[in-house]
Amino acid sequence: MKEYVPFKSGKVRELYDLDDSLLIVCTDRISAFDTILKDTIPQKGAILNKMSLFWLDFTRDTVPNHMISVNLDDMPEYFQRPEFKDKTMLVKKLEMIPVECIVRGYITGSAWESYQKDGHVCGISLPSNLQECEKLPEPIFTPSTKAPVGEHDMNISMEEGEAWINQFFPGKGKEYMDKLAKLSLLLYYKCADYALTRGIIIADTKFEFGLDEHGEITLGDEILTPDNSRFWPLKGYEVGHGQPSYDKQFVRDYLKAHPSDTLPQEIIDKTIDKYKEAYYLLTGFEFE
Ligand SMILES: Nc1ncnc2c1ncn2[C@@H]1O[C@H](COP(=O)(O)OP(=O)(O)O)[C@@H](O)[C@H]1O
Ligand SMILES: [Mg+2]
Repeated sequence: MKEYVPFKSGKVRELYDLDDSLLIVCTDRISAFDTILKDTIPQKGAILNKMSLFWLDFTRDTVPNHMISVNLDDMPEYFQRPEFKDKTMLVKKLEMIPVECIVRGYITGSAWESYQKDGHVCGISLPSNLQECEKLPEPIFTPSTKAPVGEHDMNISMEEGEAWINQFFPGKGKEYMDKLAKLSLLLYYKCADYALTRGIIIADTKFEFGLDEHGEITLGDEILTPDNSRFWPLKGYEVGHGQPSYDKQFVRDYLKAHPSDTLPQEIIDKTIDKYKEAYYLLTGFEFE
């Protein structure tokens, strides 16, 4: 049997190269305050992988995406083991466009900080008197570069994005930036509207796109999980202060009171329940 080693091991996910496709494994690792904790959250990887799958299905008519299969039978024999079940996605390998396509429907985090300084977010002028976490008049596209390892992502305007993309895809900067903005906003509208009916606010999120074998712009990566989006419970939402994090609030509260890189079982259990709750609310299916 051929053995595989990941060519990339991120904070949370591991990637395997299968020539024309990729395998993405969502592990149970969790990060909080930018560190990976020693303890894992059992089932987190499977829940997030299935959540991403739900959204990729939900949006496939809006934008083509990279998903091929989550069925282990479609994967090389090496992966046909319980440890990969439910947490693994086989995807088309894309030529990635190195832009983080961030969409914000609410003002929070770094956008809130930037707005407080000069009323702008990534060069976009916003109405005055917005309060922290307030809903924006309309969602905004605030891209950043996807920087090589070790360098920081940088917020960019549409024009800077064009120049950045032209370095990788000569002459395509404007066309691609326009498409990325349009598709990202379409995806956000569709998914955030739906999530709201299920009691979850998607405050902001990030998409990544690449080109498929025909040069078609295709949605890649994981989408709309609490690891790349801010989910807030609709119940209790209130402007004027930060909102609780849907999934990591128990972890953050605990770590603030007890700085550490491990978690007590009680916090782990409560956190698993939050992931299951989010999965149920969004998909309508109990996670089992
Ligand atoms: N279909 C795909 N084809 C090629 N690369 C992909 C695809 N989907 C996601 N990626 C890339 O896989 C990587 C996932 O790694 P991740 O753990 O998120 O680390 P990081 O985002 O820091 O690079 C990202 O670089 C992303 O751009
Ligand atoms: Mg990533």
